[in-house]
Amino acid sequence: MPAVTEVNPLLTTPRLRLEPQVAAHAPVMAAALADPRSYLYIPGKPPADAEALRRRFAHQESRRSPDGSDLWLNWVVLSGQTALGTVQATVHLAQRTADVAYVFAPGAWGQGYASEAVRAMLSFLHSGLEVEEFVAHLDTRNVASRRLVQRLGFVQTDLILGADHFKGNVSDEYVYKLSAAAFSASLPTPPLDFPPAGP
Ligand SMILES: CC(C)(COP(=O)(O)OP(=O)(O)OC[C@H]1O[C@@H](n2cnc3c(N)ncnc32)[C@H](O)[C@@H]1OP(=O)(O)O)[C@@H](O)C(=O)NCCC(=O)NCCS
Repeated sequence: MPAVTEVNPLLTTPRLRLEPQVAAHAPVMAAALADPRSYLYIPGKPPADAEALRRRFAHQESRRSPDGSDLWLNWVVLSGQTALGTVQATVHLAQRTADVAYVFAPGAWGQGYASEAVRAMLSFLHSGLEVEEFVAHLDTRNVASRRLVQRLGFVQTDLILGADHFKGNVSDEYVYKLSAAAFSASLPTPPLDFPPAGP
């Protein structure tokens, strides 16, 4: 079994630090996850308090489904000392696919943070865990989430009417998918660190 630090390592981007989520993040994340606007189009609600969140995070530290077939990966996204949100992946090891999810605090929206953090996670899932396809399920009303996956190159593959029911409404869902090959091809080419051979 690979160690936690191998399957859910620290990731960094130009502006962000993605720390593997642990129970000790509960106080800062209780603030980042406290706004009900973050839950309009997803089941769930803000954590009752930091202690309730600490218990949930402690439970999630196993990072594996009980039968070991899935990895449950969670990162806390920080800008400096400020927690902005979370990115998550459920990796289906046999299928080499990953369902991805993300929640950011409203104060952090619209600044490209979610795109930057999810891109870093996808990069790691492919290069570190050999995931070949990423999948996102999102409520059809969730314009911001739809724009986010489109920006990352995901393509809609399905529409599931009545996929869920929460907060008094039926939730229809889009399914979006992105192959790791298409994702890698969309990344900017790194600059050459040596001059190209001359003629
Ligand atoms: C979805 C979410 C993570 C996006 O976060 P974000 O930090 O605003 O995303 P980014 O700044 O990286 O923007 C991604 C794209 O969404 C667009 N966007 C962001 N907020 C938007 C809004 N309210 N309406 C329309 N488009 C929006 C951005 O303009 C950008 O698109 P562009 O590249 O065409 O300009 C954030 O809205 C959120 O946490 N929502 C609540 C939780 C949630 O619904 N999670 C998704 C579950 S499926």
